[in-house]
Amino acid sequence: MALLVVPIHKHPKYLMECCNLINSEWKRSETARLRSLECSCDTLPVSLVLINNDKVIGHAKLSPIPAIKDACFIESVVIIQDLRGQGFGTFLMQKTEEYCMKELGLKCIYLSTKGQEEFYRKLGYAECEPISIYGGPALNNSSYRQFNLNNNSVTGVCRKENGIPKAPPLPKTIVPDTNCTKKTYMFKSVNI
Ligand code: ACO
Repeated sequence: MALLVVPIHKHPKYLMECCNLINSEWKRSETARLRSLECSCDTLPVSLVLINNDKVIGHAKLSPIPAIKDACFIESVVIIQDLRGQGFGTFLMQKTEEYCMKELGLKCIYLSTKGQEEFYRKLGYAECEPISIYGGPALNNSSYRQFNLNNNSVTGVCRKENGIPKAPPLPKTIVPDTNCTKKTYMFKSVNI
């Protein structure tokens, strides 16, 4: 078995397969999903894919946190349904952390989850206060709720300026999302 974790922008042939994998877990329009994947670049954001014998079996996206320079926000972590519970998620996260350290020089990883806390706890993540990935200071739960974080993916399209991906714009509509209060924010230092 040949397992590899690679940035998708260096392997665009996996774009469609990756799009289908993420959409099998969090349904979204194919166009929007592909546009988000096409924002992947050598810095942040970057989408990493787990490849097993030339097939996409996992994905994780790293996004910038404007207020915290040497950190990133991991989202849309997913392993193909039939292959869960066999250690692939752990492998993907370990390689993703390695990528954060070695390729991006980051020191800390943040994420939010609703239901997968135990998976991340086993990987060394600890609970923390909610953070904003839109810039500005950390947000408390009630103000964070005003932003529509949709199924672990930031809504909005990727804009490019002179070919350089820019952070997604704030959603125009403020959607009250009562479920967001149940999200757990977690972090891990990776500079050891
Ligand atoms: N609750 C409790 N324990 C869990 C859970 C869970 N939901 N998921 C995995 N674990 C445990 C496993 O039992 C295993 O424990 P062990 O080491 O004692 O045997 C350990 O975590 C590692 O499990 P893996 O087999 O490496 O994990 P897997 O390959 O199944 O991947 C993942 C985990 C990515 C969460 C997968 O189940 C998945 O794709 N789920 C659906 C999508 C999802 O919810 N993704 C997370 C969104 S949050 C985010 O993106 C930041």
